Amino acid sequence: MKTQGALLWEPGTGSGWSVEEIELDPPKAREATVTLAASGICHSDDHLDTGDIPLPWAPILGGHEGAGVVTEIGPGAEGLEVGDHVVCSFLPSCGRCTMCVSGRSNMCALGAGVLGGTSPDGTHRIHARGKGVGAMSYLGTFAPYVTVPVDALVKIDKDIPLEKAALIGCGVPTGWGSSAYAADMQLGDTVVIFGVGGVGMNAVQGARHRGAKNIIAVDPVAYKRQRAPEFGATHTAETAEQAAELVSEMTNGQGADRVLITVGVAHGSLLEPAQAMTRRGGTVVLTAAAPVHQRNVEIDLFTFAMSGKRLQGTLYGSTNSRNDIPLIADLYRRGELKLDELVTRTYSLEDINTAFQDLREGKNIRGVIVYD
Ligand SMILES: NC(=O)c1ccc[n+]([C@@H]2O[C@H](COP(=O)([O-])OP(=O)(O)OC[C@H]3O[C@@H](n4cnc5c(N)ncnc54)[C@H](O)[C@@H]3O)[C@@H](O)[C@H]2O)c1
Ligand SMILES: [Zn+2]
Ligand SMILES: [Zn+2]
Repeated sequence: MKTQGALLWEPGTGSGWSVEEIELDPPKAREATVTLAASGICHSDDHLDTGDIPLPWAPILGGHEGAGVVTEIGPGAEGLEVGDHVVCSFLPSCGRCTMCVSGRSNMCALGAGVLGGTSPDGTHRIHARGKGVGAMSYLGTFAPYVTVPVDALVKIDKDIPLEKAALIGCGVPTGWGSSAYAADMQLGDTVVIFGVGGVGMNAVQGARHRGAKNIIAVDPVAYKRQRAPEFGATHTAETAEQAAELVSEMTNGQGADRVLITVGVAHGSLLEPAQAMTRRGGTVVLTAAAPVHQRNVEIDLFTFAMSGKRLQGTLYGSTNSRNDIPLIADLYRRGELKLDELVTRTYSLEDINTAFQDLREGKNIRGVIVYD
């Protein structure tokens, strides 16, 4: 079918997104076509444009945070029916590899190829200007229709609004799980969250769920600090220095139990202030994506080792999509997790470059592209 999509023809050059006609193929084996309701604007797509995350293939259709209705299924797509409501998970889960069967489906073997520029079988479902188009995360949700592997689709109940459910494809589980799982937050913890955008605001929500006592949201953008208490932040700080002072007062100089890094671009200079405000035996969680070629990191290694601290990276907030996407949808239904309030502004696909400009300027918790 012919439709519109937002492509990067020159990833890594900052040239922005080109909205143009694309040709989308019908589903092959174990694939389905989904009519999307919406797509979130996650910072990870911006990394493709800036070059922080280099790509082996161009053009690429962006977008990896969507939800919609299944309209066509290919052979062997057991468990899915036309009309099902699904969240497109930015990492697939095959359910059969070692990582999947051991409860770490965020690191599913199939996920290794999500930036490879083709479908898992090495071919393309999308074409533009006579060329095969790669899809971000096998998805490409910057188009109103997607043909994707069923391993990337997670069914949700039909009473969950799809426009909001889109955010459960990446930002919400990544942030929420960074607190709940990767940081293993405990009742009464004092926690610091650096960067409260689409991911970090959900780390705040995860910390609240886990019963953290003090939740300090750090962000240079006043709007983010102003909104953070709605999601559970008990304190806010503009800078790392201010956060360190607050932590010291709250903990009698002991330090925070957990410190999470969910900023837009993870620079090596963030690690030292983060570890310095972490208590002995505490944990620093790194969720934010760093520029791929960055190697320099500043850290007082002596203190880090001698005070038994832990540095924990996390992909997808260490969630298991088939378990945690329906779980998060249910928390939303029960009023225990906010989704509506995360959506600051909606855009049409044609306005996608404005949406990314707004992301860079920190105007939104989450900007969302809504399809008709
Ligand atoms: N690990 C994963 O699986 C995973 C998944 C999704 C996104 N990500 C990454 O997480 C990061 C956050 O994504 P997002 O969509 O929430 O981005 P965002 O742009 O919505 O939010 C980032 C926030 O960080 C703030 N910030 C920037 N520099 C800061 C600093 N020095 N101190 C404190 N705050 C600072 C910004 O003002 C903004 O509010 C990105 O790097 C993204 O690529 C990782
Ligand atoms: Zn994302
Ligand atoms: Zn797997």
